[in-house]
Amino acid sequence: MTPDLLEQGARRAEHMAALHAGKSNTESGGRNASAGRIITPGEVDTTHGRILYLEDVSVSFDGFKAINKLSLDIAPGELRCIIGPNGAGKTTMMDIITGKTRPDEGTVFFGSTIDLLRYKEAEIAQLGIGRKFQKPTVFEQLTVFENLELALKTNKGVKSSMFFRLDSAQSDKLADILVTIHLADSVSRMAGNLSHGQKQWLEIGMLLMQDPKLLLLDEPVAGMTDEETARTAELFLTLKGKHSLLVVEHDMSFIRTISEIVTVLCDGSVLAQGTLDQVQADERVIEVYLGR
Ligand SMILES: Nc1ncnc2c1ncn2[C@@H]1O[C@H](COP(=O)(O)OP(=O)(O)O)[C@@H](O)[C@H]1O
Ligand SMILES: [Mg+2]
Repeated sequence: MTPDLLEQGARRAEHMAALHAGKSNTESGGRNASAGRIITPGEVDTTHGRILYLEDVSVSFDGFKAINKLSLDIAPGELRCIIGPNGAGKTTMMDIITGKTRPDEGTVFFGSTIDLLRYKEAEIAQLGIGRKFQKPTVFEQLTVFENLELALKTNKGVKSSMFFRLDSAQSDKLADILVTIHLADSVSRMAGNLSHGQKQWLEIGMLLMQDPKLLLLDEPVAGMTDEETARTAELFLTLKGKHSLLVVEHDMSFIRTISEIVTVLCDGSVLAQGTLDQVQADERVIEVYLGR
């Protein structure tokens, strides 16, 4: 791509970002595809073997306990799957981790030193926790390249982003991510013309541009074709180790492909935990979730 084209792209990206900044009726509660994501990841102390630690977390909505004494911890590089019936509190758990919802009580730590309850939603994103909501929220009128570029630019103020250029390390990173998310052949396609699955991958790519330590993914394969689901499983297995992943899904064959430890949530707390085979054989899990 020529510098001129890049510049045009950057201007257009700028314009789109400004347009989107005014929107507030999105699933993400007004955060658009760039704002509120990770900006300057710092160090996370994982010497105690945990990247995420929740203890006795509870939250009530109008007297209803959506999360009830929830305790959970995730190891660095782990890919943890979360399953459970609708209303179990899976999305609310992610809301608490990302600062969207404040718990009434309990402890939520990122590594062993960062008390997440002391940070705002945007700050938590900056600390290195990336979240993928259920619906893709890419910029439809921008190309795949521009979407990824924009994800990097969000940490620049408006003034400096006018003159933003990818340096060579950033270009290399973008190229690597394009391959990882299976979109290397679609760099200059408009995001709006991608398939549902490709949009989901692009959004994951945008998160990856910001080097998240922990990625929260809420029902990432919902609405995907079987082939897209299989490629997403592949993608997650590549990300594991480099990042920690918390994946909420209902698709059991997808879970089977990617899972190590599976946590079953029910009524706002952990009902069972183990390998997929172990939790699938658990009478209580069969009762509340899997059915007979
Ligand atoms: N902001 C909210 N206000 C009131 N009730 C809520 C709110 N968020 C979630 N809930 C309720 O909390 C429960 C858990 O919801 P949720 O976390 O979305 O479950 P899941 O993602 O496991 O399906 C549900 O009964 C839901 O209606
Ligand atoms: Mg949910």
